[in-house]
Amino acid sequence: MLEDKFGRRFHYLRLSVTDVCNFSCDYCLPDGYQCDSDRDFLRLSEIRQICSGFAKLGTQKIRITGGEPSLRKDLPEIIQIASTTPGIKQVAITTNGYRLAQQVESWFNAGLNSLNVSIDSLDPRMFASITGHNKLDTILTGISRALELGLKVKVNGVLMRQYNDNELERFLAWLKDTPITFRMIELMETGDNVEFFKRNHLSGEPIKQKLIAHGWTPVIQDKTAGPAQEFWHPDYRGKIGLIMPYSKDFCASCNRLRISATGKLHLCLFADKGLDIRPLLQDTDTHLLQQQLKHLLGDKEASHWLDQGFTGATKHLAMLGG
Ligand code: GTP
Ligand code: 5AD
Ligand code: SF4
Repeated sequence: MLEDKFGRRFHYLRLSVTDVCNFSCDYCLPDGYQCDSDRDFLRLSEIRQICSGFAKLGTQKIRITGGEPSLRKDLPEIIQIASTTPGIKQVAITTNGYRLAQQVESWFNAGLNSLNVSIDSLDPRMFASITGHNKLDTILTGISRALELGLKVKVNGVLMRQYNDNELERFLAWLKDTPITFRMIELMETGDNVEFFKRNHLSGEPIKQKLIAHGWTPVIQDKTAGPAQEFWHPDYRGKIGLIMPYSKDFCASCNRLRISATGKLHLCLFADKGLDIRPLLQDTDTHLLQQQLKHLLGDKEASHWLDQGFTGATKHLAMLGG
């Protein structure tokens, strides 16, 4: 088991398979994806080695992230590699939903268990203005398909002043009969969005208080659950959650490590430039990778220090899959 010096256990790997994205979310890639060089994204053989090495160290869940992972044509193969790795019990994906309706069945057949989709607004015009794509309807259709297949679905909305801060009621109305978990994420400052962050960041705390006042009850989570706080209500099929990276002790429940699309290990979303693990993947029994991972984890810090204005080397979250 991978455990750090603060007693946090890491059974969850977020594996980015591309940093390319076809959306241009105002808080992430407002000018769209800019290709600065030809990158050599992880190959299937490398992905197999990574899954296997992490699984041997106790990783049970792999989340495939991007950029937008469905821009890789071999995404079903990637899902299959992860889902057939001995020891991996859960394979998840985070997607902007662009290709969800057409592709979700092939992901499911490859062994996908759950899906996180970004929807920052349920107003089609606002959705298009944030992402640059008039796609809300097809994304909602994709979510219905995923639910029909039996996939667990979470939806993420980044909370932003003057964009969606008046939409809580609309999201709650959706949750009345829709068995998903909707999480509001506090907008995070990254290297590229400093001005946007200053203008639009809002704390999730008033929403949390409102939910509690309206009969939403915190879901009791086990110690391995990660930093999102979730709430349930007897009159709603769906749950609502908050991801509040600016709240005290957010990082105390950190349970994940990250690998970028070019094979760099990141100990935190906001830490360092990442450490190249590709040279460690040559060894077929993954012994070297396992040994180095245990050693490198010694450098994981207690917190991301975001509340002190630190954004590290992370220019935007597409770089590392959130
Ligand atoms: P699950 O628990 O597997 O659903 O993971 P998740 O909620 O982390 O998944 P998702 O990919 O939907 O991530 C939601 C967002 O939460 C991320 O994109 C980030 O914005 C935020 N987040 C997730 N992990 C971290 C973290 O370690 N640190 C910080 N600061 N934010 C995180
Ligand atoms: N702050 C908060 N959330 C962000 N995401 C992307 N960039 C940011 C940011 N700066 C979210 C996306 C997606 C998830 C992977 O991360 O909306 O839901
Ligand atoms: Fe939007 Fe995610 Fe693409 Fe960034 S990576 S532009 S948040 S869809």
